[in-house]
Amino acid sequence: MQDQLNALKLEAIQIVEKAVDEGAVENAEIKYIGRKGELTSMLKQLAHVDASERPIIGALANAIKQDIEAAIIQRRMQLEDEKMGALGERERVDITEPGVRIEQGHMHVVTHAVNEITDIFEKIGFSRTRHPEIDWDYFAFESLNMPADHPARDEWETFFMDAPVSMRGRMVMTPHTSNAQVREMQKGVLPIRMINIAKCYRRQSDVSHVPMFHQFEGLYVDTDVSITHLRGILDYFVKEFFGSDRVTRLRPFHFRFTEPSFEIDISCGACGGSGADHDGVKCKICKRGWLELGGAGMVHPAVLKAGGIDAKKYSGFAFGWGVERTCIMRGLKIDDLRILYKNDLRFLKQF
Ligand code: PHE
Repeated sequence: MQDQLNALKLEAIQIVEKAVDEGAVENAEIKYIGRKGELTSMLKQLAHVDASERPIIGALANAIKQDIEAAIIQRRMQLEDEKMGALGERERVDITEPGVRIEQGHMHVVTHAVNEITDIFEKIGFSRTRHPEIDWDYFAFESLNMPADHPARDEWETFFMDAPVSMRGRMVMTPHTSNAQVREMQKGVLPIRMINIAKCYRRQSDVSHVPMFHQFEGLYVDTDVSITHLRGILDYFVKEFFGSDRVTRLRPFHFRFTEPSFEIDISCGACGGSGADHDGVKCKICKRGWLELGGAGMVHPAVLKAGGIDAKKYSGFAFGWGVERTCIMRGLKIDDLRILYKNDLRFLKQF
C-alpha cells in the first residue's frame, strides 16, 4: 500500500505541475485530495491493513497529502506570477520612447500687439496698469467731465449693466480705457506715466467694428507737461510701431476730458503721405496722405480735480485708441474685423 500511495503522490504532483491554468489545478485538487478524491478512497482500505502498519501508513498518507497541497499552492503562485508578468509586459511603459508632441498654440495676433505696445512704452518709463473693465459710470463718464445726460456720451455706444446703482451711478462695460485716468490719479502717486491696455465694449458690430475690442490709453501727469511732450511721445510710438519713415500730425478736435483736444493722424504707408501714387492717381488706402489713428489732448483741469490733483501745479496729456485698428493700419490685411474673435484656427494660425 505504501507503494500505491507513493505512486499516487508522484502522479498527483506531476499533474499539478503541468496544470496550465487555475481550472486544471482545481481539477487535480478535487481528483487527488478532495473529499471523494483518490487519496481518501485509498485510505478507506486502511481497515484491511495490519494494525501494526496502520500508524505508519496513516502518517505517510498525511505527509503525501501535505506534499500535494504544497505543490498546488506553489503552482497557483506560479500561474498568478505568469499572469501578472504578462500584464506587466502588455502595459509596460518604455520611458525612453520619444513622446507624442502636444500641439502647441501661440499668442493671438492682438495679444502680440498688446505686448509690443507695452514694450514700446515701458522703454520710455511708462508702466502698464490694470483697471476694471466693468466700472462705474463715474469713472467712464462723469469724472471725465461728462455729466449725466450730456450728449457727448452718445459717441460711446455703451452697454449698461443690470446691476444696482450706487453713488457712482450705474455700472457699465467700459466703452473706452479712459476710465483709468481718474482711477490712476486717485492712487495719489505723482508723476504718472501710465499705459493702460484693456478690453472695451461698444454696441457695434460690422466689418470695421467688434463689440469687444482693445484700447490703449496713455496718461502722463507731472509739472510743466506741454503739447510738445505729447507730440514727442506720439512721434516716438509711431516710429517704433509703424516704422521710422512715418510722421504724425495733430488735428484740432473735441473731447470733454481734454483741452485742447486732437485727433492724431499718421502719414500713409502706402503712398508715403503724398496722397497719390507715382502716376498721380489718388491713393486707394488714404486718399489724402493721412490715416486717422486716435484721440489725444491735454488733460482737462476738471479731470485733474476729480483725480485730486492741483491743476495749477500739475498738467498732463492723455491719448487713447484701438489696438485692432492700429494693427490694421500697420498692414494686417483683413476685410472683416470680426474674424479676429471667431476662433477660426485657419485664420489664427497665420500669425
Ligand atoms: N477715450 C477716447 C475715445 O475712446 C480717446 C481719448 C483718450 C481721447 C484720451 C483723448 C484722450 O475715443
